Amino acid sequence: MTESKRKVTHGGFHRRAFLKGSGAVAAATALQTEVASAVQQTTQVAKGRMTIDLEVNGKRQTLEVETRDTLLDVLRYQLDLTGAKPVSLDGSSGASTVLLDGKPIMASTALAVACDGKRVTTVEGLDDTVPAAFVAADAQQCGFCTPGFVVAVKAFLDKNPNASETAIREGLNGNICRCGTYSHVIQAAVSLVKGGSNG
Ligand code: FES
Repeated sequence: MTESKRKVTHGGFHRRAFLKGSGAVAAATALQTEVASAVQQTTQVAKGRMTIDLEVNGKRQTLEVETRDTLLDVLRYQLDLTGAKPVSLDGSSGASTVLLDGKPIMASTALAVACDGKRVTTVEGLDDTVPAAFVAADAQQCGFCTPGFVVAVKAFLDKNPNASETAIREGLNGNICRCGTYSHVIQAAVSLVKGGSNG
């Protein structure tokens, strides 16, 4: 029997199968190394501080930020705009809602560097129309969720100026109020549709 035909087994394991298997592992390892090296070549991780430009509430701002800073960090701790709140850093409360190029986003989940060159509107940058409707409808208790709701109402009604109450309820479902002022918030939003102005 030639060497190639001889079956060498150890505990039921074939030598040939082992060698084949080893080859497969070696090939897989080589592939992993290749992939890792390709990832290393194509992935650029920004580190340290960067300079970004934002237009915040109509004013141009040039800011030095850490690459890990969120938009919320920059608004609150560099620009002293404390309307948007750090209630839920995953954005699930809606309390950090701001407008980025006119669209509502959670400032707590947006990296400041990703907002470079964009237009940010916070609750401080809105006119009095929506806040006045909230006051008239007594739509706040502790007020912690209120700025987020005000911005969300503004964004929603800008896009849906003739929204029904049902649509408003659905449109605001990304914002949470722990004090339970929902019915008054909806009342405020509905009043803006009825009033024909959503400033
Ligand atoms: S008014 Fe207190 S969380 Fe909404």
